[in-house]
Amino acid sequence: MKPVKLNGIRACVFDAYGTLFDVSSASRSAQDALGDRWQALSDIWRSKQLQYTWLRGLGGRHADFWQVTGDALDFALETLKINDPALRDRLMDLYLGLSAYPEVPQVLRRLKDGGMRLAILSNGTPRMLQSAVSNAGLEGLFDAVFSVEEVGVYKPHPSVYRLAVERLGVEAEQVCFLSSNGWDAYSAKAFGLHVLWCNRFAQVPERIPSQPDAEISDLGVLPEFVID
Ligand code: LAC
Repeated sequence: MKPVKLNGIRACVFDAYGTLFDVSSASRSAQDALGDRWQALSDIWRSKQLQYTWLRGLGGRHADFWQVTGDALDFALETLKINDPALRDRLMDLYLGLSAYPEVPQVLRRLKDGGMRLAILSNGTPRMLQSAVSNAGLEGLFDAVFSVEEVGVYKPHPSVYRLAVERLGVEAEQVCFLSSNGWDAYSAKAFGLHVLWCNRFAQVPERIPSQPDAEISDLGVLPEFVID
């Protein structure tokens, strides 16, 4: 995709997990206990966590992201035949303090200095998001942190993307949404937001509506797209 400057953007809205925060940092931090299984655990945990959000949404059986994250971890641990309740508690605790990707603090400060409004829009619970923001030293940078708990259904339900637009009091096309999750980026674009897909993992294009405005490999170049 060819980069295009986005005009008239008044707010940058970020997905949390995978975009601002490195979800693999939880399992990586427990390498002493997991050994070379940390990556497999991390991958199963993340993919099951997302599947459960979609399944709960389709089935109309919402449970919050802390519950879903724990359920997915239990699935991943059992898959790898790891039965260690203390390690399970440790991994959940680590999930509350995920590392931010290295470019994140500087990019957020640059955007804020440029007058951009900043928000998070995430599946995470308010407590999980608050904890991640404060552990990563990002306090004071966001104007708002929106959790799907306010609408009781997970991404990519349109009511989630609508939540950010309504609460920020802007038009959909005045928002630049950032997600490293392709399905989230495409779905936000289908809703009507401007979207940059932060394709950190060099994934191939999704086959769902709608293609994001552009693709970036990390958030470092974001200010050039949105600051006049
Ligand atoms: C989130 C998931 C999709 O933060 O990463 O909403």
